[in-house]
Amino acid sequence: MTEAGRVALVTGATRGIGFEIARGLAEHGMRVVIGARDPASGQKAAKALCDRGLDAHYVIIDVTDRASVQAAAAVLVDRFKRLDVLVNNAGISLDKHSLPSTADLDEMRRVYETNVFGVVAVIQSMLPLLRQSDRGRIVNMSTGLGSLALTRGPDGPMAFSRLLAYNSSKTALNAVTVQFANELAGTPIKINAANPGLCATELSGGKGQSPVAGAKVALSLALLDADGPTGGLFGEGGPVPW
Ligand SMILES: NC(=O)c1ccc[n+]([C@@H]2O[C@H](COP(=O)([O-])OP(=O)(O)OC[C@H]3O[C@@H](n4cnc5c(N)ncnc54)[C@H](OP(=O)(O)O)[C@@H]3O)[C@@H](O)[C@H]2O)c1
Repeated sequence: MTEAGRVALVTGATRGIGFEIARGLAEHGMRVVIGARDPASGQKAAKALCDRGLDAHYVIIDVTDRASVQAAAAVLVDRFKRLDVLVNNAGISLDKHSLPSTADLDEMRRVYETNVFGVVAVIQSMLPLLRQSDRGRIVNMSTGLGSLALTRGPDGPMAFSRLLAYNSSKTALNAVTVQFANELAGTPIKINAANPGLCATELSGGKGQSPVAGAKVALSLALLDADGPTGGLFGEGGPVPW
């Protein structure tokens, strides 16, 4: 299926997994719009892709700032005229060293502002454009750490992780994914959550596989054809338990 002429927005695509998702979508022939909080970083990331002969642009978007999200949606309408793929990649993790019993609630709220409310705000603002696409796709960047099945102790394979804010924000993001999938059932839009696996980025402190490898699942969900799934959480090995 050709991707030429289709437009993708990837939030938080200035670096890490988001940049590699943007690169992969552009390599599939899409016009890619890098979502960036900082104009210089957005320009640099878009130029890095353009220098490889890819069709890349950037738009300013801070997902925690409603006005910024709405302004970005207006840019998509005015300048790019369409949106076929939205990857909600922007995400933060602040609670690296605390246990749930000592977690800082203000920090937790900040994590939810980006990882949960920011995603909802972006989807709501971009949906009018996505609804005009014959193959609208939304990918929410989640993690195995958001899976209750994987993190529940004592036997869950990821029960070692005690990141109250980050893990629970991604559990909420999984629920957000399901809720939107239910509302969008019967439309051409598919929305899924992706688990990239541990990747060596700023967020993870540089541990894990390459962001190029981490981008693969999101890319396959962004490029799903009409009989692909919706409302699921997927990793490289297929469906991930909730
Ligand atoms: N790395 C992993 O092992 C891993 C594993 C599972 C899931 N994930 C998920 O994958 C996604 C990407 O993670 P990553 O490791 O590539 O992270 P990263 O290297 O830290 O990059 C995060 C990106 O998000 C942007 N961002 C942060 N807050 C934002 C906001 N309020 N508005 C807009 N952009 C914002 C950052 O922009 P600035 O440059 O402006 O800060 C940056 O471009 C996240 O959702 C993360 O939870 C990562």
